[in-house]
Amino acid sequence: MDDKTQKRVRQLQKELNEHNYYYHVLDDPKISDAEFDRLLQELKGLEEKYPALATPDSPTRRIGAPPLSAFEQAEHTIPMLSLDNAFSDQDILDFDARIRKNTDRDVIWYTAEPKLDGVAVELRYENGVLVRATTRGDGFVGEVVTRNVRTIRSVPLHVRDDALSVPQVLEVRGEVFISQKAFMELNRRRLAENTAMFANPRNAAAGSLRQLDSSVTASRPLDMFIYGRGQVDGMGFDTQSGFLDALAAWGFRVNPLVKKQISITDALAFYRHLGELRPDLPYEIDGMVIKVDQVALQQSLGEKIKSPRWAIAYKFAAIQEVTRINKILVQVGRTGTLTPVAVLEPVQVGGVTVSRATLHNMDEIQRKDIRIGDRALITRAGDVIPKVIKVMVSERTGQEQIFEMPAHCPVCGSQVQRLEDEAAVKCINAACQAQRKERIRHFVSKKGFDIDGLGKKLVDQLVDEGLLTSYADLFFLKKEQLTPLDRMAEKSAQNLVTAIDKARQIPLHRFIFALGIDHTGENAARLLAKAFDTLDDLMAAKESEIEQIHGMGTITAKAIAAFFASPENQALIKKIRDSGVVITNTMAGTPKEKNHVFSGKTLVLTGTLTAMTRSEAKKNLLAAGAKVTGSVSARTDYLVAGKEAGSKLAKARTLNVPVLDEDRFMEMLGS
Ligand code: IVH
Repeated sequence: MDDKTQKRVRQLQKELNEHNYYYHVLDDPKISDAEFDRLLQELKGLEEKYPALATPDSPTRRIGAPPLSAFEQAEHTIPMLSLDNAFSDQDILDFDARIRKNTDRDVIWYTAEPKLDGVAVELRYENGVLVRATTRGDGFVGEVVTRNVRTIRSVPLHVRDDALSVPQVLEVRGEVFISQKAFMELNRRRLAENTAMFANPRNAAAGSLRQLDSSVTASRPLDMFIYGRGQVDGMGFDTQSGFLDALAAWGFRVNPLVKKQISITDALAFYRHLGELRPDLPYEIDGMVIKVDQVALQQSLGEKIKSPRWAIAYKFAAIQEVTRINKILVQVGRTGTLTPVAVLEPVQVGGVTVSRATLHNMDEIQRKDIRIGDRALITRAGDVIPKVIKVMVSERTGQEQIFEMPAHCPVCGSQVQRLEDEAAVKCINAACQAQRKERIRHFVSKKGFDIDGLGKKLVDQLVDEGLLTSYADLFFLKKEQLTPLDRMAEKSAQNLVTAIDKARQIPLHRFIFALGIDHTGENAARLLAKAFDTLDDLMAAKESEIEQIHGMGTITAKAIAAFFASPENQALIKKIRDSGVVITNTMAGTPKEKNHVFSGKTLVLTGTLTAMTRSEAKKNLLAAGAKVTGSVSARTDYLVAGKEAGSKLAKARTLNVPVLDEDRFMEMLGS
């Protein structure tokens, strides 16, 4: 081997490690995946030819090493403790009081971190190079999983030393996890291959980490956040927050949500904030960990046998419970879709009583083999409708019944239809009471006519009493018709009539949304209002014209054209207009740019912008021909992250969605 080869190998190793860091720790790739692969293949070829050049921190180690027959065990230099649990604010206040008393201080500063629900692992670096990774095991002895941990792209094989010197021995601890998305993909693959599925992301992470063949681990997208330390020689830390900063400087991935040096009150607020973020985070957390920030205080407080006195975990209430499916009901939606809903034996899930869970459609019921009488694992994420994760097949008694979708609409009795290629079964009788109610509800909702005080119950009542047969009837309601109704006082009747009156002026895009055309949500409605100056122009448009609108889908265009072609719908619209409703187009004349950088792109806005409000930003984007959606997915082209961006930013990073800060965004918007 010549000098040149050796130099090239070292250069490739260094470069690839850098690119790994940019990509997986900073979420800011500098080269394309293809370019990365090309360099990696070159290095692999050279190292195979000259094995002496393959150092333990070479990026080729991330691909996996020959299988082991068993894991070695290793003792932790410093035991890996666990944490005491708190379940209420009072537990946390007691913890704080205890600490203040034992340290004789009036105020204690804490660092609060999300409690990651993964597998605790310790990494040992000697002279900056990763030499050993061990699982927590029983806290004293763990399994050596170095080869597997090397495949985790966000784990540095070599600690960065450009900003901060590196201790000769550095043991750091953290949580290995798998993202929700990767977990679901993994299970989908396992289902297709007929292998047992993982019950949750933590099991998937643990299972992936404990593979004797590290190339299997390499195929599982594991990730790792670092939050703690073991033995560190030759460097001290005054605070936990300072240690977290050092970790970031060394190139470790530190959870971005961490709150440094906060009061106990702020920690409690942070717990609630985390609870809100939780459903949207790309990874699982099961609570918050509060740590006394000052290391000197930590030392004076000391440890119990299993847990430190200076830290505590505040766990979230369980958000999964098992209960019985007593019945399966069928609900009819605005567009006639029949949705099966499980009626449950009421159960507490995350502090809320749950008695129903949507089962979506027949395909879902068959896929999960859900039967009436089954015991089922229920989850409730945030304010989302509870759903069934799976049924406990092993607990079946044989009494369970298979559910079948009714052939007739449970509300109006007309025959239902299942359209080809669609999971949904539909009642196609437009006069169906259930659809009527839902259509009216949609019509008066926030993004439609936004009529205050007209909630679900009242809509049901008005339809049941025969006062409303369509949303057009709303504008003819008289106070005298309302007052005789149950639970309707003179004043509320007057308020409702006033609210309806106030709604008679409406921008075209909101009017279109309110109509409740199939597939036509807020965005499509805006596109239409931008493309057509008046409602009459839109109503006269051909399907092909609608389809040509940038960002409009074929199915949507078809539904829109069909809606306006229907004489019944035309009559409804005429009735609404005759009642004195005035439709103005606030979006007409907005320049329809085709060449803008954001034209045809899908963006998500999050955080606080300083130069304009979020709705102004949205308006500008729509004018530039972009689509603005509410949640980040793999299809998002850009996330615009203002100040204090939270879970959406985290999600974008995990999905490698390009993130624009406000400056960059304004620059691109203006260009
Ligand atoms: S600190 C002595 N910080 O929770 C301090 N642990 O119940 C011990 N965990 O075994 C750990 N996120 O697996 C700490 N930000 C965090 C954590 C965290 C998750 C896990 C860890 C530990 C378990 C204790």
